[in-house]
Amino acid sequence: MALLIKDIRQLVTCRNDNGIPNSGKMQSGIGLIENGNIIADKGKILYAGSASGLKKFISRNKIKIGNIIEGRNKIVTPGFVDSHTHFVFAGNRENEYEMRLAGKSYQEIASSGGGIISTVNAVRKSSKRDLIKISMKRLEKFISYGTTTVEGKSGYGLDTENEVKLLEVINELNCENKYGLDIIPTFLGAHSVPKGKKKIDYLEEICFEMLPQISRKKLARFIDIFIEENYFDKKDAGIIFSEGRKYGLIPKLHTDQFKSIGGTDVAIKYNAISVDHLEVLKKRDISKLAQYNSEPGNRKITATLLPGVSYFLDIKYQPARELISSGIPVALATDFNPGSCMTENLQIIMSLASLKLKMSSEEILNAVTINAAFALGMEEITGSIEAGKQADILMFDMPSYKYLVYNFGVNNIELVIKKGKIIYENGKIL
Ligand code: NIG
Ligand code: FE
Repeated sequence: MALLIKDIRQLVTCRNDNGIPNSGKMQSGIGLIENGNIIADKGKILYAGSASGLKKFISRNKIKIGNIIEGRNKIVTPGFVDSHTHFVFAGNRENEYEMRLAGKSYQEIASSGGGIISTVNAVRKSSKRDLIKISMKRLEKFISYGTTTVEGKSGYGLDTENEVKLLEVINELNCENKYGLDIIPTFLGAHSVPKGKKKIDYLEEICFEMLPQISRKKLARFIDIFIEENYFDKKDAGIIFSEGRKYGLIPKLHTDQFKSIGGTDVAIKYNAISVDHLEVLKKRDISKLAQYNSEPGNRKITATLLPGVSYFLDIKYQPARELISSGIPVALATDFNPGSCMTENLQIIMSLASLKLKMSSEEILNAVTINAAFALGMEEITGSIEAGKQADILMFDMPSYKYLVYNFGVNNIELVIKKGKIIYENGKIL
C-alpha cells in the first residue's frame, strides 16, 4: 500500500533535469510545486506533482493508497544531505573553544599538542562499541534537524588499526542503524601527521598499509586529504591520490581553509568530486575550477562550503557569490567535528549561508539537497523529490520555504521520512 502526501502548500522538489548539479542560474531552480502531491511505495517515490496529474497517475497505475498525510499548510523538501562531517570521534574539546575565546588561534592550539591530535588520543583509547554508541546519538541529532544522508570521515586514528576501526564504525552504523540513514564513508588518513612519525613514513603507511586493507574490506568510497600549511601539500596529495585511485577511491579535498597552497590544482589533476572549505580561495582558482567544469566530459567539481567553521573559528567566510556566478555548483555542509564546527544542525548552516554568504533561500535549498548529493555521487538515489528516487522527505510546519532561513535558530520540522518510513515526528525520534 502506497503513502500519499497530499495538498502540500509548497512542494520543493529540487529536481534536476540534465544530470549535472544545479549550478549558475540553476542554483536557484528549486522545482517548486504549489499544492503538490507525493506518492511513495516500497521506499521510493512514484509520483511528485500536481493534483490533476495525481488522479490520472493513481487510476492509470491502479495505485492502492494506504497511509495519507495531510500536507495542507505544510512545506515539503527533500531530506537534507550533509556531505562533509567528522561525526565519529571520542572526547571533546570545549577547553580549546575557551582557549580560542581567550585569544589563541586554531593553529596555535594545534601546534601546542591540541587540535586533531588530542581527538586522536581519545579515539585510540576507545573501543569500537563505545564509538558506535556515541556516534549513534549524534546521528539521531542529525536526523532531528532533517539530515537523511550523511557523510563521515576517518582521520582521528592516524595509524592503520585506528583508521580501520573508525571506518568500520561508519560502515557498521550504515548497515545497522534502524532509521535507514545513508552513511557514506570517506578515508581521511591524511588528516594530520601523527605524533612521533615522520611525514614520509606516515605517507608510506597510508599507501601501503591502510589503503590495501581499506580496499580489501571495502570500507570507503572517497579519499580525502587536508591540504594546509603544517599538514599536507600538493606533492603529498599527488602521492596519496595516485595510490587511492588504484583502489577506486574518489578524491575529495579539505583545501584553502587558512592558506591557499594549490589544492584546487590537485583537485583538477585528480578529478576530485568536491573541494571543501575554501575560506581563502583565490579568484585565480575559481577561474580554474570554472574552466575545468565547463569542459565537456568532465564531471563537475562541487564546491562544498562550510560556513559553520567560519562562525565557530571566527574566520573568513567563503566566496559563495563568486562561485555561483562562475557556474560552479555549491553545496553546504556542517563539517561537524569537535575542533572547528561542533554542530549537527544543518539548518544553522543554512542561516549562516543566507546572512554571511549572501546565498538566496533557493540556492541554499539546492546546496543542502541535490548538489550535496552530487558531492557524494548519490544524485541518482537521493537529493530531490522525483519519481524513482528514495522517499527521503521533510515536512515543515511553516508558511513558506523561505522561513527556513528567516525563522532562524528553531526547528520547524514536523516529519522526517527516510526511504518511505517516518523516523521523526513532532520532536520525537521514532
Ligand atoms: O574540517 N580542517 C581539518 N579538519 C577538520 C577539523 C578537525 C578538528 O579540528 O578536529 C575540519 O575543519
Ligand atoms: Fe572537515
